[in-house]
Amino acid sequence: HAADAMRTDLMTITRFVLNEQSKFPEARGDLTILLNHIVLGCKFVCSSVSKAGLAKLIGLAGDTNVQGEEQKKLDVLSNDVFIKALSSSGRTNVLVSEELEEAVFVDEKLRGRYCVVFDPLDGSSNIDCGVSIGTIFGIYMLKEGSAGTLNDVLQPGKNMIAAGYCMYGSSCTLVLSTGTGVNGFTLDPSLGEFILTHPDIQIPKKGKIYSVNEGNAKNWDEPTRKFVENCKFPQDGSSPKSLRYIGSMVADVHRTLLYGGIFMYPADKKSPNGKLRVLYEVFPMSFLVEQAGGMAFTGKGRALDIVPTKIHQRSPIFLGSYDDVEQIKALTCFFP
Ligand code: AHG
Ligand code: MN
Ligand code: MN
Ligand code: MN
Repeated sequence: HAADAMRTDLMTITRFVLNEQSKFPEARGDLTILLNHIVLGCKFVCSSVSKAGLAKLIGLAGDTNVQGEEQKKLDVLSNDVFIKALSSSGRTNVLVSEELEEAVFVDEKLRGRYCVVFDPLDGSSNIDCGVSIGTIFGIYMLKEGSAGTLNDVLQPGKNMIAAGYCMYGSSCTLVLSTGTGVNGFTLDPSLGEFILTHPDIQIPKKGKIYSVNEGNAKNWDEPTRKFVENCKFPQDGSSPKSLRYIGSMVADVHRTLLYGGIFMYPADKKSPNGKLRVLYEVFPMSFLVEQAGGMAFTGKGRALDIVPTKIHQRSPIFLGSYDDVEQIKALTCFFP
């Protein structure tokens, strides 16, 4: 088939989002413009990540961020790029970045109706060994009548109007949901465009993979311990699950969306709220997983129902295939 050999009708991410928005009569194209600026940030970071060694970007920036971790040069660079790309879009108002202690209130002249929460570079401990890393983002609309305050970003995840991530891996893949399913786009470097390659991603109902930092097992609670034991020694005659853990949330969640299974960062005795941050890690990924037909659970309830009170708040998270998350849910009821 000639059409298979050379595709000539390319669905770019811009064309796709414009099509989606045309379904809403009063859509003003603002979201398309904002997403274009996010896409630009992703392309920039993608190119910086692939040049990291050459450009001598690898190494510590000599600074610590809010969570007291060492900040890498690429973290700082990615943060700067996204803050500038987002504010210059003229469509944003309040911005929250993992790398900045305080929220950013965009200059009055450039202010718009959207708030963006993001992790500019996730999995940065993996940079130096060339393992996949990514950017995570979630988008809220300003609350009715608000001129832009912290309350606009302290909304539950279910209020997000869009969420996504870009993975800088063997290829650069952007996965996006605007609330009507999940779609994946791959950067064609020769065109500089993200092309629709994974239409309507549906997470398998049940998976064969579990993904967790098992080095924390000594501090786990009973439901988590029991769940992981069941993965290895199933009681119902099914085969044991495989363990896959990259330590880059973007890469671990990407695999979970495509292959199914469960990804978790549970609470433990040392970290009663787990490690991952609600606004720019737990919410966007939970939004995507739910939109793909999966489930995201905190150990107590639906992840997207959390009402955050602090911008860098953390929460335990179990997300992935519906049936697998249902199992940990059942165990938390059994061992309350
Ligand atoms: P970040 O690089 O943005 O600080 O986040 C790293 C996160 C996340 O990507 C991953 O799932 C988790 O840290 C891994 O944590 P452990 O090393 O404790 O397993
Ligand atoms: Mn970090
Ligand atoms: Mn992160
Ligand atoms: Mn980060």
